[in-house]
Amino acid sequence: MKSGLEDVVAAETVLSDVDGKNGRLIVRGVSLDDLVTSSRYEDVLELLFDGFFPMRGSVQPALGAARQEVFAHVAQTDPALVALPPVEGMRALLARLDDGDDLAAALRLVAAPSVFTTALLRLKAGLSPIAPDAGLPHAADVLRMMTGTMPSMQQVSALDRYLVTVADHGLNASTFAARVVASTQAGLTSSVLAALSALKGPLHGGAPGPVLDMLDAAATPADAPAWLESALANGERLMGFGHRVYRVRDPRADALKGAVRVLAGSGAIDPARLALAEAVEAAALDLLKRKKPDRPLDTNVEFYTALLLEALGFSREAFTCVFAMGRVGGWIAHAREQALDGRLIRPMSVYVGPMPQVAA
Ligand code: ACO
Repeated sequence: MKSGLEDVVAAETVLSDVDGKNGRLIVRGVSLDDLVTSSRYEDVLELLFDGFFPMRGSVQPALGAARQEVFAHVAQTDPALVALPPVEGMRALLARLDDGDDLAAALRLVAAPSVFTTALLRLKAGLSPIAPDAGLPHAADVLRMMTGTMPSMQQVSALDRYLVTVADHGLNASTFAARVVASTQAGLTSSVLAALSALKGPLHGGAPGPVLDMLDAAATPADAPAWLESALANGERLMGFGHRVYRVRDPRADALKGAVRVLAGSGAIDPARLALAEAVEAAALDLLKRKKPDRPLDTNVEFYTALLLEALGFSREAFTCVFAMGRVGGWIAHAREQALDGRLIRPMSVYVGPMPQVAA
């Protein structure tokens, strides 16, 4: 057995392929590079759900209706729930949705992270939640529900690109958690709750907040190399770098870097912030190459996620929730694929504890 189940194959999937050697991600036959230029989040949902649910026509109106349906649960939010970190408050609200296995249950679960997160962020700020507009594309409505104003085209397309980029990624920790629960036939809400709990950890979906903390601490491009060197010497991991599967650059990092550059061009990102990020990235890559020569460590998806979500106005503590807004589509498709397989996931462990004393 290998610690962390590294290289262990635990599922067959038609959903996505993570090619760690060549830095390539394929989602149902489409490479990420093509997907981000040609698709909105709704298109990727149709791609992922095809064959797992009876899909008739465009998913956009049904997803809009699901946002409205889910919004009714926001009325049950109490102050203790608002006081929780957003990902925990969102998870608590999501747990109130019925378990189910049909398309209606799936779309409620896709809608839930967006509707609950934006409502909780407003409640935390002392503002009233804004009801969804079922007629809008998903990414546009997410930003409108958060700010109360219609976002620009560049903002909508940046969020869409992010949601598409993170929608599915092989058998990552949260997707595996979703599949384990699905194999018990517990239902989609239970699968998504398990996945969300796995996503929350800093080694998985909790990294982009700490990426910004790192940029703040590094302070200036000139100070960055010394700060990074001392962090690494203190045994810290540099957030936004390294990956279990990719041995080269994570292709999602470039997909998001492109969106960040477009946002910077429209004035939504301070050029000094982007320059600092690029300097930190270059210094970190140089340092990791020198200090960890045996382990190729490159930029992962979380590094430019941090800049993109910051520019769109999400607070750091909400970043994992936004990751869930995108990844939930992949969790649901994987849960359906696993449930249809029909076999319980039940691996073995090797007992290494003491044996009972045998009387002499
Ligand atoms: N900074 C410094 N050193 C690192 C980093 C990093 N970011 N990542 C790995 N290493 C080092 C480890 O210290 C270890 O070195 P050692 O052999 O000298 O002890 C070696 O690389 C191997 O590390 P593992 O923990 O075995 O790598 P693993 O594949 O388990 O970890 C992970 C992958 C968790 C992503 C890791 O690279 C990490 O902690 N990165 C920082 C957090 C992060 O960015 N997470 C987001 C990942 S992307 C996603 O989940 C969406």
